[in-house]
Amino acid sequence: MPKILAIESSCDDTAIAVCCGGKILASFVSSQAQAHTSYGGVLPELASRIHQQQITPLARLACETAKIKPADLDAVACTAGPGLLGSLLVGVSFAKGLALALAKPLIAVNHLQGHYCSLFINQPKPVFPMLCLTVSGGHTQLVLVHEPLKAEVISQTRDDAAGEVFDKAAKLLSLPYPGGPSIDRYAQTGNPERFTFPVSQLPNFEYTFSGLKTALLYFLKEKLSQNPDFINQNIYDICASFQSAVVKQLVSQLTKAARTLSIKHIGLSGGVAANSALRKAVTDICQKESWLYSIASPNVCSDNAAMIALAAHYQYLQGTFSNQTLVPYSSMGSSFSR
Ligand code: KG4
Ligand code: ZN
Repeated sequence: MPKILAIESSCDDTAIAVCCGGKILASFVSSQAQAHTSYGGVLPELASRIHQQQITPLARLACETAKIKPADLDAVACTAGPGLLGSLLVGVSFAKGLALALAKPLIAVNHLQGHYCSLFINQPKPVFPMLCLTVSGGHTQLVLVHEPLKAEVISQTRDDAAGEVFDKAAKLLSLPYPGGPSIDRYAQTGNPERFTFPVSQLPNFEYTFSGLKTALLYFLKEKLSQNPDFINQNIYDICASFQSAVVKQLVSQLTKAARTLSIKHIGLSGGVAANSALRKAVTDICQKESWLYSIASPNVCSDNAAMIALAAHYQYLQGTFSNQTLVPYSSMGSSFSR
């Protein structure tokens, strides 16, 4: 029953969790969204500084809540990448220091491996192989998961990530950062068929969102030239129609891949997995095709350390440890392991 303290600091959320035997005993996320709102996106230097302020009190709080003394931990884990280097450096340095002081092993976790591991928190074990759509602010990928630590990326986005396109669309609509939740909220009372936006269908189950983003930009330019109040008067329908185009592309590529690979179990994880239309569309297609499915609970869709703790738990059991030479990395590369 390994006791692990896990740290997640890859972007603008400082998060710490403690698990014992894979059970999450404490999990805290300190969101920085408010601090970055006026910049319309994450300001990397500010993110690192806030991580530095948050990390020690949050680690203390997590240990107190889990009723585990730091000396009783069996390992310290952290997200090593991909993410913002300055932000990662804070979590990695803290984890290295704590592991060194406690003379405990260090575990380096891939953030995206963490995202699909969010599906194993308090959920029945999937039927492997599971095809997981991971949709976040920085990544959009279809991952074939053979077992918790054995997974391969079978396709991803060629340009923007789904969360990124939600955030950029929200900026064009003057909605606050992060844009995904605002678009989701407005879309709930809008008509998704009122406006038509392109739904790309690339070969090999790949994704692309840059054309959709440009289509929205030119659509708004044209409409605003005729009516300067167009956005305010139509915000619900614009959000619903735009969101529908994102969801259609996400789900159609997922469906094609699942059929081609004869997959029986579908997963959905990452910040954009909180999107209500996407959750419904994935549920609907899985029920129609009689596929089993696991959708991350809303509280573990966005960045959190519980998912990192769970990935670390499997690494601990497998004996995959890092050491004091660990260096954070900003991009994913071609596989989860480094
Ligand atoms: O996984 P995450 O917390 O961070 C990254 O690893 O990137 O994902 C953050 C992204 C943001 O782009 C945010 O706008 C998006 O997830 N997001 C949503 C929703 N909630 C968060 N996008 C659409 N609908 C939502 N309800
Ligand atoms: Zn993430």
